[in-house]
Amino acid sequence: MGKVFLIASGKGGTGKTMFAVNFGAVLASGGKRVCLIDMDLGMRNMDLYLGMENRVVFNIMDVMSGICKLNKALMKVRGFDSLYFMAVSPRKDGRRITAGHMTALCDVLKKYFDYIIIDCGAGMGEELQASAAAADQTIIVTEPEIAALRDADTLASWLLDQGMRDNCMVINKIDVDLIREGIIPDIAYIVNNTVTPVAGFIQMDRDIRVSTSRGVPVVCKTGTETGDNLRNISRQIVDQEYRV
Ligand SMILES: Nc1ncnc2c1ncn2[C@@H]1O[C@H](COP(=O)(O)OP(=O)(O)OP(=O)(O)O)[C@@H](O)[C@H]1O
Ligand SMILES: [Mg+2]
Repeated sequence: MGKVFLIASGKGGTGKTMFAVNFGAVLASGGKRVCLIDMDLGMRNMDLYLGMENRVVFNIMDVMSGICKLNKALMKVRGFDSLYFMAVSPRKDGRRITAGHMTALCDVLKKYFDYIIIDCGAGMGEELQASAAAADQTIIVTEPEIAALRDADTLASWLLDQGMRDNCMVINKIDVDLIREGIIPDIAYIVNNTVTPVAGFIQMDRDIRVSTSRGVPVVCKTGTETGDNLRNISRQIVDQEYRV
């Protein structure tokens, strides 16, 4: 049976979608069958980060409302044997996705995929609540600024209240100069002052901006430090090594 990861954040723009596509790419490169689901209703962009914007015909809302079968909305990602993607509707059109929908969908997907990765929009809206019901483990992606860290803690508390105990954090967009200047908290401070275990840190990196703009996950580019780092973080999350 497959496992469902939820990628979430309190604050917007922290790097959730970037992390989701790279996490999926790393797992699929290791031979696992992976399904990426865009659940950022109305603000979707996972199709762009995967270079698939011209291939989306059906989406998750079409599956939920019976317009198409599940396999019609599942698209194989170019360059991978076992990485699939399901888009979300480009607009909030009144069709709602509930916890029941997501649980039913993931129960089916778990039979065919080793990992299902759901990328949500920022905050604790309807899509997050629906997705959380189906998730086994949550990865909160945050930036190191105090406002983003507070929002990440608020989200983590909400997840705990929902009974979700398997949560970890990825701290993205680390700017070493700002840490040196004392403008943002350093790594030790972050690790010691959050209740959520930290699975990894990702530096501010131009390669990431290039990769999201070009629609190819940065881990597909050989010889980058960020790619190696993302592979390590992905392994730690799957093995839950951050618990040690
Ligand atoms: N480590 C990084 N270094 C440099 N740029 C980054 C890094 N991580 C993400 N970005 C850039 O930040 C922007 C936002 O990333 P992304 O879309 O993944 O965030 P998000 O959390 O999914 O946003 P939203 O809340 O809107 O869904 C993108 O332009 C991406 O290229
Ligand atoms: Mg996003």
